Amino acid sequence: MSDPQIISGLEGVLVTETRLSKVDGTAGVLTIGGFPLEELAPNATFEEVLHLLWFDRLPTASELEELHVELAGLRTIPEPTIDLLKAAAQKKLPTMDALRMGVDTLALVDADPSDVSPEADVLRAKAVTARIPTVVATYWRLLHGEDPVPPNAEIGHAANYLYMLQGEKAHPDAERALETYINSVVDHGMNNSTFASRVIISTRSDIVSAVVGAIGSLKGPLHGGAPGPALDMVFEIRARAEASGKELKEEADLWTRDVVEGGGRIMGFGHRVYKVRDPRADVLGAAAVKLFEGAGDTALYDDAIAVEEVVLDVLAELKPDRSIKTNVEFYTALLLHGVGMETGLFSPTFAVGRVGGWTAHILEQIAEARLIRPRAAYGGELDRVWLPIEER
Ligand code: COA
Repeated sequence: MSDPQIISGLEGVLVTETRLSKVDGTAGVLTIGGFPLEELAPNATFEEVLHLLWFDRLPTASELEELHVELAGLRTIPEPTIDLLKAAAQKKLPTMDALRMGVDTLALVDADPSDVSPEADVLRAKAVTARIPTVVATYWRLLHGEDPVPPNAEIGHAANYLYMLQGEKAHPDAERALETYINSVVDHGMNNSTFASRVIISTRSDIVSAVVGAIGSLKGPLHGGAPGPALDMVFEIRARAEASGKELKEEADLWTRDVVEGGGRIMGFGHRVYKVRDPRADVLGAAAVKLFEGAGDTALYDDAIAVEEVVLDVLAELKPDRSIKTNVEFYTALLLHGVGMETGLFSPTFAVGRVGGWTAHILEQIAEARLIRPRAAYGGELDRVWLPIEER
């Protein structure tokens, strides 16, 4: 029997069935837990979305309150985790690396690692989801020479993340914008980091290992690492326009051509699945414009829209067969900048949201109980003859 055809990058390959999210890349529609993204993301609290993904339905008021109290009670991170984050801050490691290392140490507070009951696994899903914002915020403050701010049990998950980062309660518009963002990125079909987490847990490994692997995957610029560079691009084009006296759009055109003709990629554009505009871009764009209008300054937003228009035109001209459209990262960058975050926090904040999807997929995979183990076609030599070292 001949080997089946290799599907490079597993593009289009179905590996499992999930009830968590559906990505329709042709129509540009994203469904999360049965809800259209546009319906869920701007309305729900993150705790409601977590309940939806973990338990397949929205919580009642009392269940929501219970989940809020439970997550708030799990937010504190252990002392050894803080010590490790201090060491990482001394070396000025990128926040995604510190997050990966910090999450690894959360196994220290697992009451009974040998308990693999479904109840214990759900508790682990909650614990890692509750603590990721604390790891990120603690590290960020240490990195900037500031004392960590302990979590505030009175406020919700998204608001508390901003509170721990900024040391004071944020404006309600910023809290809502961040909550809409983490809701929007919580799950997205069989993306690379989710797949990585399912591959790891399918060996009957543990939840912390699966989340650590997912963070390693998310770090890469082809997955979650793009929003920082996407915003830097807008700032750079702005600076060039200021220096040259040319129109912003003219500079954007020159810059985009330069990058694409040099074989580079424009961050915040293109997607493996979406061949139309990423629906998350619209939801985040709407949240971002609300935020900037509320703050009375839409200059950056307006410039970003102008740059986006030019990039789309140039990509359509230079890569006419590729249908490269705006993806989630472009508006992520604008929105997170609007809530007061620096670019170094963008990918870690993606993880703050996506851990909800990772843990829900991990629980699904545990229930599926099937080892993920594909094959590779062998392309090497055969029947080599061993030569003693002095004869090579
Ligand atoms: N800028 C310029 N060219 C791009 C591009 C971009 N953002 N995205 C894709 N292309 C081009 C590639 O250069 C390639 O062109 P070629 O065939 O002429 O060499 C073609 O489109 C197909 O690229 P490929 O890498 O095979 O597509 P993919 O399905 O693997 O790409 C991404 C998906 C996300 C990796 C890709 O679009 C990308 O690198 N985008 C920028 C990073 C980013 O925003 N990532 C966040 C994703 S949510």
